Amino acid sequence: MNIAIVGTGYVGLVSGTCFAELGNTVICVDNNEQKIADLNNGKIPIYEPGLEELVKKNRKKKRLSFTCNIKDAVKKSKVIFIAVGTPPKDNGDADLRYIEDVSRNIARNMNTYKVVVEKSTVPVETNKWVKYIMRLNNNKIDFDVASNPEFLKEGSAIADFMHPDRIVLGVESEKAKKLLIQLYKPLKAPIVITNIQSAEIIKHASNSFLATKISFINAVANICEKVGADVEQVAEGMGMDKRIGRNFLNAGVGYGGSCFPKDVKAFIRIAEKLGCGFEMLKEVERVNEDQKKLLFKKIEQALWILNEKTIGILGVAFKPDTDDIRSAPAIDIMKMLQGEGAHVKAYDPKAMEHAKDILPNVEFCKNAYEVAKGADALVIMTEWPEFKKLNLSKIKTILHHPIIIDGRNIFNPAKMKKMGFKYTNVGNL
Ligand SMILES: NC(=O)c1ccc[n+]([C@@H]2O[C@H](COP(=O)([O-])OP(=O)(O)OC[C@H]3O[C@@H](n4cnc5c(N)ncnc54)[C@H](O)[C@@H]3O)[C@@H](O)[C@H]2O)c1
Repeated sequence: MNIAIVGTGYVGLVSGTCFAELGNTVICVDNNEQKIADLNNGKIPIYEPGLEELVKKNRKKKRLSFTCNIKDAVKKSKVIFIAVGTPPKDNGDADLRYIEDVSRNIARNMNTYKVVVEKSTVPVETNKWVKYIMRLNNNKIDFDVASNPEFLKEGSAIADFMHPDRIVLGVESEKAKKLLIQLYKPLKAPIVITNIQSAEIIKHASNSFLATKISFINAVANICEKVGADVEQVAEGMGMDKRIGRNFLNAGVGYGGSCFPKDVKAFIRIAEKLGCGFEMLKEVERVNEDQKKLLFKKIEQALWILNEKTIGILGVAFKPDTDDIRSAPAIDIMKMLQGEGAHVKAYDPKAMEHAKDILPNVEFCKNAYEVAKGADALVIMTEWPEFKKLNLSKIKTILHHPIIIDGRNIFNPAKMKKMGFKYTNVGNL
């Protein structure tokens, strides 16, 4: 099938490449000329395991191409996915200006029937506006709007796309339904067919639920710390109950990234606008914000005055296996430390290039040992696998003080204490 994906970011590039891998002819469109030029020169703008090889393979087979020319892409495609960003406005609303812009451009360039699919995460009822704006800009050509929210996770995006738990298709015509089912059939995954509004809500509700699980276990972790319980054991015991499940019960410094913070905010806002206030989600946000403050307090408790102390940060990305630093808790912690006059050294296996732009006064190092060397304390902010394998005896000798504050609970507290570290984590003091 001939398809176009408008917006070649984490979602657009991964889905476009995977659709090409499934045998479709895919045109990925973006209005960022540098990004398209890089992709046409074989340079992948994001780090995502396995992506570079898959892009290369499908470009070679002429199934995948990159362009800034939306007109051409629309004309050549039957199904057009919208995968542009939907960042938060200051008031928490999703900023839908890019969706509007793309919808208008698609409408103006349609020559034959098209299915226009929202893949970006959008508030419920966005489809109505997409349809409205498209009709306003083209009242001659027939089209359908559909919703197909994306559930891939950065770091395992290709596997998530190729082996999804489910595919959600929000449709309102048999024609659109048939085309989308045909497109996804090779994945052999369960397909949930809904109306468009339900599909839009499924995405916001899913992300908000996962964020709730994280804040829930973090709130439990804080109780554990007061009474000498171990949140890891509590999560284990809870998670074995099939109704609860162990996933997303990892206590730590809280969620970040480009999705959870903005999607929870947007869901709160749309619920408010519809007169159905979602106070529970406000509490989820509060707990998440507090987790960063609590970790910062732990650093202060270990060192007292932070002015002129050197703090080593391990991990900048919001989670492992990605270079994405959007709303990464590490960024907030580093800014808070700098605010107190501390000197901050940091290392991340993939995310340092992005971080350098927004944290010019942080000393970025070649590896974890360089960060630890001479630091007054080491703070774990991202659970990269390589941090779990550090030579801790070496770390202990090169740190100025053997202090580790572990915001991701990657080490065993008993072992760390036995080794002579002053070790603090989340939910097990
Ligand atoms: N990143 C994730 O893990 C993830 C997962 C599921 C869903 N989502 C959702 O998917 C959407 C996209 O997220 P992302 O992380 O890929 O964003 P991104 O910022 O990485 O990519 C968006 C791309 O859209 C391009 N763009 C913006 N306006 C455009 C226009 N008018 N014409 C053409 N291109 C345009 C930008 O240049 C950018 O390359 C968001 O709604 C997000 O919430 C993201």
